[in-house]
Amino acid sequence: FLEEEDGGSTNSEFDDLNKRILACRRCDLHLTVTNKVISKGSNHPKVVFIGEAPGKNEDETGVPFCGRAGKLLDKMINYMEMKDGDWAVINTLKCRPPENRTPTTKEIEICRPFLTEQLHLMNPTVIILLGNTAEKAFGESVGWGELKKTKDGKMLLKIFHPAAMIYKREREQEQYAFLDKYKYLWTE
Ligand code: URA
Repeated sequence: FLEEEDGGSTNSEFDDLNKRILACRRCDLHLTVTNKVISKGSNHPKVVFIGEAPGKNEDETGVPFCGRAGKLLDKMINYMEMKDGDWAVINTLKCRPPENRTPTTKEIEICRPFLTEQLHLMNPTVIILLGNTAEKAFGESVGWGELKKTKDGKMLLKIFHPAAMIYKREREQEQYAFLDKYKYLWTE
């Protein structure tokens, strides 16, 4: 008998996946990390945000988006007026690339099965890609400002990665206007 939460997937299914992520040695990134970084937020969210890869702070704590970019993501989540159980944050890679370099195509491919499994267990209605690496990993292209329905019926959006807003602050207002437009997806 497995305990079951409202979303269908059981805690033991998440535990099993997380154990396999922690044990993964499929590429060399595991050699240089302090912690692997799996997820934060709900196991059964309406909205899943997909980032790129852990940075220095995330590597130190094991928590995604806990540094400077994370502050902007928190602000955005707050702006979106979602309840605590409504969202989750995961990354394309679970291991920090040295010096925060961009993940290689090979690393994205090697790590993709974990991303796919996380999305399958979480079964969100909305997937928000934070920038181009997440889009590449997810495998469906979507323009900025465009809402797309995936093959399995999920609503897909791509927005600026919070780190990209740090470099160009005017993007924050554009981002918020975009989120206003699609607010009905997570508030109704
Ligand atoms: N940037 C990301 O893409 N992910 C994190 O977890 C932190 C910063």
